[in-house]
Amino acid sequence: MKKMLIAGNWKMNKIAAEATELAASIVNGVNKLSGAMPQILVCPPFLSIASVVKAAVGSPVIVGAQNCHNLQKGAYTGEVSAQMVADSGCKYVIVGHSERRAYFGESDEFINLKAHAAITENLIPIICIGETLEQRQNGETFDIVANQLKGCLAGFDKSYSEKIVIAYEPVWAIGTGISATAAQVDEAHNFIRQELNKYFETEAENVIILYGGSLTAENADEVLSIRNVNGGLIGGASLKAEVFLKIISISQKYL
Ligand code: PGA
Repeated sequence: MKKMLIAGNWKMNKIAAEATELAASIVNGVNKLSGAMPQILVCPPFLSIASVVKAAVGSPVIVGAQNCHNLQKGAYTGEVSAQMVADSGCKYVIVGHSERRAYFGESDEFINLKAHAAITENLIPIICIGETLEQRQNGETFDIVANQLKGCLAGFDKSYSEKIVIAYEPVWAIGTGISATAAQVDEAHNFIRQELNKYFETEAENVIILYGGSLTAENADEVLSIRNVNGGLIGGASLKAEVFLKIISISQKYL
């Protein structure tokens, strides 16, 4: 059976009432689905986590955060620790999203610290990697991805294969409406799986690898059918319950 995680990254969208409404619509739709289910995750902004957790109680929908700090507490104005994220009812946390790398200067080393902090708090970090358009055009995709993995996965061995998730998100495909082609996704995910052998050895097959970047209800079938794709990290298309639900139901074909 193929592992499948369908994750919505709501980014900086939805005030609390809207987030609660979206969560309730997703929960309602998911409860009507039958058959085997993927793991279903929504990652609202921090301030809506509590109300979304409440809306999801008793349903298969789980909640994650979009970021965390690696330290437990202290004088870091504006930051939220992994411990706080876990305490709020989250099970996952996205770390190293390309928007955080680009706008907030996050390095692979910092992302690695966040991932370790998340695991310490029993959260599963979704570690994001992916090349920019320029890097792809220069033929550097594999080098970039391999380097990001090396930095982000420091200190992890095969005992962590089910405690972390990798999200391959080519930066040029995020929010642009230009998804990577099936061939590009296939090639990148095969490469990532192969690289994961270096860290997780015999357990590399168990690591969930998500695709992210303009994943929609239109291209989900093609992308989710790819062998080394274990689900999606979905931005824009996760903001509408009916679209997100459609992607969830498409994913059921590949479980
Ligand atoms: P997108 O975003 O689906 O809107 O391209 C994906 C992401 O950034 O995680």
